[in-house]
Amino acid sequence: MTNNELRGIILAGGKGTRLYPLTKVTNKHLLPVGREPMLYNPIKRMIEAGIKEICIVTSTEHMGDIVNLLGSGDELGVDFTYRVQEKPGGIAQALALTENFANGGKILIILGDNITKGSIKHYVDDFKKQEEGAMILLKEVGDPERYGVAAFDEKNSITNIEEKTSNPKSSFAVIGIYMYDFSVYDIIKNQRPSERGEMEITDVNNEYIKRGKMNTRVYEEAWMDAGTFESLEMAAKMLTD
Ligand code: TTP
Repeated sequence: MTNNELRGIILAGGKGTRLYPLTKVTNKHLLPVGREPMLYNPIKRMIEAGIKEICIVTSTEHMGDIVNLLGSGDELGVDFTYRVQEKPGGIAQALALTENFANGGKILIILGDNITKGSIKHYVDDFKKQEEGAMILLKEVGDPERYGVAAFDEKNSITNIEEKTSNPKSSFAVIGIYMYDFSVYDIIKNQRPSERGEMEITDVNNEYIKRGKMNTRVYEEAWMDAGTFESLEMAAKMLTD
């Protein structure tokens, strides 16, 4: 694989408790957002960005339905690989399952419930030119206390990401689109679960920041995390507006 190729990973495990009972018998990422299952949105964004190999991570119970929906990828001109996350141990734990798939190269991760209105291709192209390290996308929000939020120094460089805090240092939320070099897998191996017992993606991002290897971009179009009843409805509206 050349330095310029990127593989895509969509994380579609988790518990989906905030959407219960919609998620009692089905996976959150199969729920409709407008006229399509939620998962179609991150898949389309990857295809637009020129990604040809996509790994989907989901739970044992829902893997069958997801494979039924997506199949091999032939129809879309991509190649789907599937990985099972047996227990929802956090976003970084789900990501750790994709080490072999990544094949030593760079990766783009999209959380399966992150719905975007427009292309992410130019950010991906920028990351392809980045020698090493990571890139995350930010979005200015009105309710930053609900998200992981970036803090910046006087030169506008990111200094830290703080998880859901009542006193956020900026209004820039970290959205669920992350680009990493292959060293992400070693970072996760050296990580411990948080107090809530999950392997946290914010800890991974903070490690890249500590190493001085994190770039940020502000996503310019509409974005929504469709994980609650309210945001699920808003995401559908956002796509049709
Ligand atoms: P969350 O929305 O933080 O968690 P969740 O999907 O379990 O939902 P809830 O909080 O309502 O119980 O997860 C964000 C995304 O990350 C989601 O699209 C699924 C993915 N994810 C995994 O793939 N594996 C995991 O272990 C977790 C926690 C999340």
